[in-house]
Amino acid sequence: MIPDSLSSSPLEPLLTREYDTEPALVHERLRRAYGPVAPVDLLGVPVWFVLGYDEVLHVLQNAGERWRKCVAGWRAYTEGRVPADWPPLTLLAADNTGFQDGDRHRAGRAAWDAALRPYQDPAHPQAQLMERAILRYCDELIDVVTEGTSTGLADLSAQYGRPLPLMVAGRLFGIGIGRGDDLVMDLWRLLDGPDSGGAYQRLHATFLELATVKRRRPGEDVPSYLLAAKPDFTDDELARELFLLPAFLDFTGSLICNAVVEAITNPRLRATLSTGAVEEAVNRVAMLKPSIANVTLRYARADAKLGNFTIAAGDPVLLSIAAANNDPRFASALGDDTVRSTRAHLSWGAGPHRCPSRRLATQITTIAVRRLLERFAALGLALPPDQLPWRPSPFTRALRSLPVQYEVRPASGPRGRSDAQSAGGDSGREPSDVPADAPADNRRAARSSLWTVLRRLRGGRRDDQPGA
Ligand code: HEM
Repeated sequence: MIPDSLSSSPLEPLLTREYDTEPALVHERLRRAYGPVAPVDLLGVPVWFVLGYDEVLHVLQNAGERWRKCVAGWRAYTEGRVPADWPPLTLLAADNTGFQDGDRHRAGRAAWDAALRPYQDPAHPQAQLMERAILRYCDELIDVVTEGTSTGLADLSAQYGRPLPLMVAGRLFGIGIGRGDDLVMDLWRLLDGPDSGGAYQRLHATFLELATVKRRRPGEDVPSYLLAAKPDFTDDELARELFLLPAFLDFTGSLICNAVVEAITNPRLRATLSTGAVEEAVNRVAMLKPSIANVTLRYARADAKLGNFTIAAGDPVLLSIAAANNDPRFASALGDDTVRSTRAHLSWGAGPHRCPSRRLATQITTIAVRRLLERFAALGLALPPDQLPWRPSPFTRALRSLPVQYEVRPASGPRGRSDAQSAGGDSGREPSDVPADAPADNRRAARSSLWTVLRRLRGGRRDDQPGA
């Protein structure tokens, strides 16, 4: 029997082993059984799971007006029916721009748009410095992976996809190299553990301190730009905003890994890549394998018809970007062999909360994939694709590890292209007391904690990696 409200029970649990390995099969089954909206159980809590492209777009575009993001709009939460230790609750109750409505959201969002603009406008010096820094980070990470080898095994998630965006985070935060790497390590622990509680405390303390320091001595970085755009942020509010950065940068790491898997296993995408159209290929992966599979909950302001159901006021909806992008009503309009892919997919969101950083995230991913293809003559999965381990998560589609066999391209040599590029000017100076023109070894020595872990990961030793 088809339930007509969220209080009907029992509901089908969404996060199963099948969902981890083959989410598309689960989407298909739910679509067949219920249509574009299905009632499901999310870690013990009932939610409406929205699978239809039109329905997801409708809710995204009407955020704030008809669908609230603030957790206070969730009836079960305000009535005390959501357990305090329900895993996603800390995130949903974060009370920052990502989870606010109306005027509060508009003010915070304007500050984010202003703070990220320097990195997204190709003509701005910050964007140019960032581009060179990303390229150099890629080279530094690949150097560590390949040091002294021409062929070998690597985990491109732990050794490349995840540390790279977190190194970018250190730069966006405007923290010097030595401290920046401690921060990177704590971000890593926060997202995957172990010691995520300790990491949260240390990060909050760091972000609070950062807020105080940047208010006194502003720099060229995101916290300073946020404060310049919205000087009435309190230190605590700014610290809470800053948690958005590493979370979204981690999604960028997942997109890098998803793109690498697709580049290895999907002949149509490989064909796109061989034409040099890496950015186009990244867009296609963002559409087909979105790293944010589901965006965080929205709550109906009033009773609303959606799909075949009436969503009661205060009920939560979980919007599936992955299912919407693959909704036959949307996907069948795209030819299978289209090399140039559509931009109408929902992987960057839509409406008031849409991603303000699409260009930077695409740029990080594009450079990361392009540099891998330049530095490696061959890359192959070290496991059959259907045995790759996925992180169980209500929101993200991310690999736990990405084991590959590699063969270094002899001509590329270590750090070839980025050195050539940086020889003529500022190489993307680090916010650090280690001079940017210091030998690479000195720079690496200064970032001891991260590099110690990355070195230990070579040859498959994973003992020190957070999350291992
Ligand atoms: C592949 C990487 C990324 C993807 C797929 C992505 C996607 C998204 C999506 C779907 C949303 C909307 C969420 C919602 O409607 O609930 C969003 C919001 C946001 N993103 Fe991104 N993002 C990425 C990277 C980044 C990066 C690198 C940054 C910052 C440097 C960033 C900053 C933000 C912020 C601040 C918001 C909240 C905006 C608001 O609520 O108004 N994102 N992102």
